[in-house]
Amino acid sequence: MHDGFIQLDTQNDDLIRAELHDGLRAANAHTSPKYLYDALGSKLFEAICELPEYYPTRTEAAIFADFGDEIAASVGSGTTLIDLGAGNCAKAAKLFPALRPAQYVPVDISVDFLRDAVASLRQRFPEIKMLGVGMDFSASLTLPDAVARHRRLFFYPGSSLGNYTPDEALAYLQRIRIAIDGDDGASFSGGEGGLLIGVDLIKDHALLDAAYDDALGVTAAFNLNMLRHLNAVLGADFNVRDWQHRGFFNAGESRIEMHLEARRAVTVTWPGSERRFDAGERIHTENSYKYTQQAFTSLLERAGFSVRHVWTDPQQWFMVCHACPSAG
Ligand code: AVJ
Repeated sequence: MHDGFIQLDTQNDDLIRAELHDGLRAANAHTSPKYLYDALGSKLFEAICELPEYYPTRTEAAIFADFGDEIAASVGSGTTLIDLGAGNCAKAAKLFPALRPAQYVPVDISVDFLRDAVASLRQRFPEIKMLGVGMDFSASLTLPDAVARHRRLFFYPGSSLGNYTPDEALAYLQRIRIAIDGDDGASFSGGEGGLLIGVDLIKDHALLDAAYDDALGVTAAFNLNMLRHLNAVLGADFNVRDWQHRGFFNAGESRIEMHLEARRAVTVTWPGSERRFDAGERIHTENSYKYTQQAFTSLLERAGFSVRHVWTDPQQWFMVCHACPSAG
């Protein structure tokens, strides 16, 4: 089956509830940022990408537009393009005319979100084989057999890797490196497979703060919406009105932090458990690490990549890297 969709079940409801329970009961309560993305959360994220304060999406898009031909020359045509967190597939689609991949494999946690996007892409690019894969790629990178092993180019735009700590990011890049080789022991040292990744850079702190705490409150809505999602998946009784959004740059850790802060003392219950929060107490919902060019390319090298090319915008707010498994 070349043209279709596959949903791989990597999510177990009991495991999800146990993970959420442990995070909410921890001394410093925390949740995984993946719970930001229910149907409404994905739409709110699309709205964030339109905000004047949220520079990453449009800055990365400008780099792709300005250097599309150079990027295509670096990665070559006829690749198996594996799009991690493809969402509406818009970023990859814009690169198709330059990259001319042989097969396009959009991967997202929910295959439903991919269905419409891929249907219209097939009309526009009939020469590209397409296979939508629904899976939690943070849990596993083992792809279905129908994904070609030939010249795999992992596409990981948007600085999504920033959700991981640098140690986790290193481990994840190592897993991508192994997945490029196709899990079959064949190792390419000739630059046949690779990684095209977008990474957000450290910049003026006021710009970073504004990007994650915008004037319209869209990021606040995106963060608060997680509580509705937790009510649905965990059976909790969060009242959104009891909470407020916090989003700021923590320079010591080189990361944006998002938290939900209790406006008053509240007790939240869910089947079999509960948690009291004092006024001002927080649930840590997301980290978004920011790198220097130097720190990120050295992370790639430690993960077994050699950096082929780096592109940035004139203000050096964002970088796009093409890297290949290093020989040996
Ligand atoms: C999708 C993880 C790249 O960290 O900028 C946007 C998510 N959170 N605004 C980011 C996000 C708040 C975004 N990533």
